[in-house]
Amino acid sequence: MFIAANWKMNLDKKSILEFSKHLQEFKFSNKVKACIFPPMTYIDYLNNLVANLPISVGGQNCHFNFSGAYTGEVSPIFLKDIGCEYVIVGHSERRTLNNENDYDVMLRSQSAINANLKVILCVGESLVERKKGEALNFIEKQLLASTPKNFENSLIAYEPLWSIGTGNIPSMTEIQEMHEHIAQIINHITNKKIKILYGGSVNVDNITDILNIKNVDGVLVGGASLKAKDFLAIYTAAVKKTYNF
Ligand code: 13P
Repeated sequence: MFIAANWKMNLDKKSILEFSKHLQEFKFSNKVKACIFPPMTYIDYLNNLVANLPISVGGQNCHFNFSGAYTGEVSPIFLKDIGCEYVIVGHSERRTLNNENDYDVMLRSQSAINANLKVILCVGESLVERKKGEALNFIEKQLLASTPKNFENSLIAYEPLWSIGTGNIPSMTEIQEMHEHIAQIINHITNKKIKILYGGSVNVDNITDILNIKNVDGVLVGGASLKAKDFLAIYTAAVKKTYNF
């Protein structure tokens, strides 16, 4: 089970120090993996604060080249260098606001894996596709076009755009259907069993239901991960779930 916190462009140095104090007081389980994706500028800072804990850190994006004249970009090599284990690639906010297309996402993922990072590759349909009944087809196309050939030790995150930050989540049947679909496609592409996370308005109230869905191997949490108490409650729900197996 995997619980990931995507802080996006939130939390400054002072808030991260406060957050880390709650982490220090918490007893983590070796059954549930926790990974935090802070703003790039604080990855190193957070990593040092949690060095004694079983928590991984990761980047929210990386470039498709290792170095070069790319002002404002970050190399996957640099993320690895400062202790990142994971990197999120193809988040819908980057696809939409930074015009990253499937091909970019494929190149960035490929480069990250070549730099020995594990990728969380995000896919998700808009409300238009969902309403037209084209969500499954859309995700299939997105996966086929954005998964690199070297995809390994990595995960897929299914994050429907219309669910991110809105408080609306798909029905449990819709999540199950989509995760099953993704599991089949990604197995077909990679010949491997790849873990699939759900993301979009995950919170303390819905986490248990979401984790009970077949083929949901964890969650990628935005807003609710900004409060240590909520993040740790979500983590605890995952620990309880693993004891039910
Ligand atoms: P919210 O949990 O705030 O909906 O964000 C989800 C997300 O985008 C995680 O990457």
